[in-house]
Amino acid sequence: MRFSILTLNPGFFSGSLDEGMIRIAREKGLLEVEIVPIRDFTSDRYGTTDDYPYGGGAGMVMKAEPILRAYESVRRRAGADTPRVLVTSPQGRRFTQGWAQELQGASEIAVLCGRYKGIDERVIPLLGAEEVSIGDYVLSGGEAASIVILDSVARLIPGVLGDAESAEADSFSEPLLDAPVYTRPEEFRGLTVPEVLLSGNHERIRLWRRREALRRTWHRRPDLILGRSLSDEDRSLLDEIKEEGEP
Ligand code: ADE
Repeated sequence: MRFSILTLNPGFFSGSLDEGMIRIAREKGLLEVEIVPIRDFTSDRYGTTDDYPYGGGAGMVMKAEPILRAYESVRRRAGADTPRVLVTSPQGRRFTQGWAQELQGASEIAVLCGRYKGIDERVIPLLGAEEVSIGDYVLSGGEAASIVILDSVARLIPGVLGDAESAEADSFSEPLLDAPVYTRPEEFRGLTVPEVLLSGNHERIRLWRRREALRRTWHRRPDLILGRSLSDEDRSLLDEIKEEGEP
């Protein structure tokens, strides 16, 4: 899979591509990341990438021309593979695990990082782009959002994660939050590990984890449970949780 990130701030990415799972995916040859500095594609001697908005108002708007030229360089390199194009924007459709899974099937993805007041709207249809938001808050630019998208897609590429940490067991692969986890020592600063986890009884542990996953989800993200059909076991665990009331 190749990810091209079109940005006005290429320095943002130094370091972050050389750490953790993204580094491993690149080293294994399963992921290639290309940072495309939009400023390299400006045609005036000042390297102008933004301009005042038509109709007035605060803030500057990213110009279409350098973006299109930057994208065309990606297209030329990609050859027959037409990239899926995303534009980061607080106006976009909300990014989800399902969207990450869908992107994982693409061989070429281009992400345009938005900045300033926005991007000349004509860029969106010209690139055949989808606007994507990573949440209901405003970032100063789309670079952080593009790393979020890259990370969540890259870890789904077969072979990137080892079996033990396989993405299958994640929160959101199944739409429930994970149960709490603990590691040694058994007691830390007066806090102990729940006894059941030390019991060696796999069925008790499974049931405890299921209950805790449901409990967390119910208290923190009830929207993930409401309107969903539950197994008989989940339903009776959830009834118990509701009877306990607030944590
Ligand atoms: N740019 C600014 N805010 C953003 C957000 N929430 N998601 C994606 N891109 C953004």
